[in-house]
Amino acid sequence: MSLQRMLKLLYALVLCVSANEDFDWTKNERGSFYYGTFPTGFSWGAGGSAYQTEGAWDKDGKGMSIWDVFAHKKGKIFLNDTADHSCEGYYKFKDDITLMKDMKFNHYRFSISWPRIFPNGIKADHINEKGIKYYDDLINMLLDNNITPIVTLYHWDLPQVLHEKYGGWQNASMVNYFNDFANLCFERFGDRVKYWITFNNPWSSAVEGYETGEHAPGLKLKGTGAYKAAHHIIKAHAKVWHTYDTQWRSKQKGLVGISLLADWGEPVDITNQRDIEAAERYVQFYMGWFATPIFNGDYPQVMKDYIGRKSAQQGLGTSRLPVFSSQEKTYIKGTCDFLGIGHFTTRYITQKNYPSGRGNSYFTDRDLVELVDPRWPDPGSEWLYSVPWGFRRLLNFVKTQYGNPMIYVTENGVSEKVQRCTDLCDEWRMQYFKDYINEMLKALKDGVNVKGYTAWSLLDKFEWDEGFSERFGLFYVDFLNKNKPRYPKASVQYYKRIISSNGFPNQREVESWRRKATETCSSSNQLLAADPLTSHMEMVTEIVVPTVCTLCILLAAVFLMFLLRGRF
Ligand code: NOJ
Repeated sequence: MSLQRMLKLLYALVLCVSANEDFDWTKNERGSFYYGTFPTGFSWGAGGSAYQTEGAWDKDGKGMSIWDVFAHKKGKIFLNDTADHSCEGYYKFKDDITLMKDMKFNHYRFSISWPRIFPNGIKADHINEKGIKYYDDLINMLLDNNITPIVTLYHWDLPQVLHEKYGGWQNASMVNYFNDFANLCFERFGDRVKYWITFNNPWSSAVEGYETGEHAPGLKLKGTGAYKAAHHIIKAHAKVWHTYDTQWRSKQKGLVGISLLADWGEPVDITNQRDIEAAERYVQFYMGWFATPIFNGDYPQVMKDYIGRKSAQQGLGTSRLPVFSSQEKTYIKGTCDFLGIGHFTTRYITQKNYPSGRGNSYFTDRDLVELVDPRWPDPGSEWLYSVPWGFRRLLNFVKTQYGNPMIYVTENGVSEKVQRCTDLCDEWRMQYFKDYINEMLKALKDGVNVKGYTAWSLLDKFEWDEGFSERFGLFYVDFLNKNKPRYPKASVQYYKRIISSNGFPNQREVESWRRKATETCSSSNQLLAADPLTSHMEMVTEIVVPTVCTLCILLAAVFLMFLLRGRF
């Protein structure tokens, strides 16, 4: 099918679908707004992660992570940025909790930096008590403010030592090292933390870390690296779940889950069986890769079939997709008390054959092509198109595939590209939150078991290989100012209203929210515009004044010496 025909088909599809007012998701309903509220006790919050926000990369005994090292190499990150300081969350967490309190968050999602606790990755080596104290203080202050901590154990910052010594997630020994780290976290924090996420978005760690090399540790092991890393990550997840289950659950009464990221994949032509299967493959290779072993005991059949066939065609004796033994399958199956879902966008998918050969990769193994509708809004990151209806479909897919598990949405949000003039009036983000949260509400009405929602992210922060060029925050952070001040964007006011109404009460009220939010943001904009002046004044007091004083003292000393010489 030519690209032009495909696009035409796409437009026809979009048009015919937007005319349909039916509420049933299976009938492709898109666009209509549903007024209603969430169940009592629904949990609202926002999130961030250690490397993206903490800064203090070499302070108080912290060891290096693969991200510290990767970001310091030239040419890896946009403008060679690093998160050495980022939002300075390590020092400013009290201020941040005040922001959360004002927004009436029920929870806050953050991650623990493994090398801040075990600087060399290994328990036997050294436990960094200062690192423990930081997380203790953070957790205690959250609880004092009635904010539930949702804690991720691995948000991509593997201790560098483990990479150098063993090859990181390419090596099976990571399973035990990660288990030791998790076990210590349960021991030290588990009396207060009741929601644990083992891994954040392992798809990215595996594919971008070991297949494309765009992320740390930057390996390009095409066609094998990602599968191997994922295999060990899944085993590590299961081991940590069992550790909690056998050693801590009865005392601590918490839950252990995993957070998986997935785009939704929609067939380009919904009447074409090959496109339907390609779209399903897209989601199976994305989320199913991790979720199917954890919920159903093994990799998705379609992954085993495709990768197995292509490996055989390459002349390999075994599949590039590793195999779980039957014991392992039983051990891994059922190791999830709740499923975290990170979701940002959607793709149209069509079938495309990639002949197998030396260029095999995770991407060609799937035999498909991803497309986007050029009319989808894409305000920020290149990959992020706003397609709210895809969210409801993904949530329903999870419900049917994995036996309606308890779900927490662990990431959802939208970025903006850095502009020369900062705009705190983030219209498109309000629209994104409104529409995506509304689709989640529809999914709830469909019977999907969603318990909470985490806006991504609380603050603008380091956006991995994109550096600071993409801003996801509800709060704008001025990274040029040493104090990293935070400024609320309009979406703060908007999200606040969703939280206080626990949803969308009625049309009249919801429509007034946007107006009220934009009224406040224009005055904040002026404040921010004045900020360069403030930073300049700070520079005057902190650098110029001491320098001038030192010079004066020196001059006075020289003058005095001359005087004294003249006298004797
Ligand atoms: C998923 C990652 O988990 C998160 O760290 C990142 O900020 C978002 N994607 C947006 O790219």
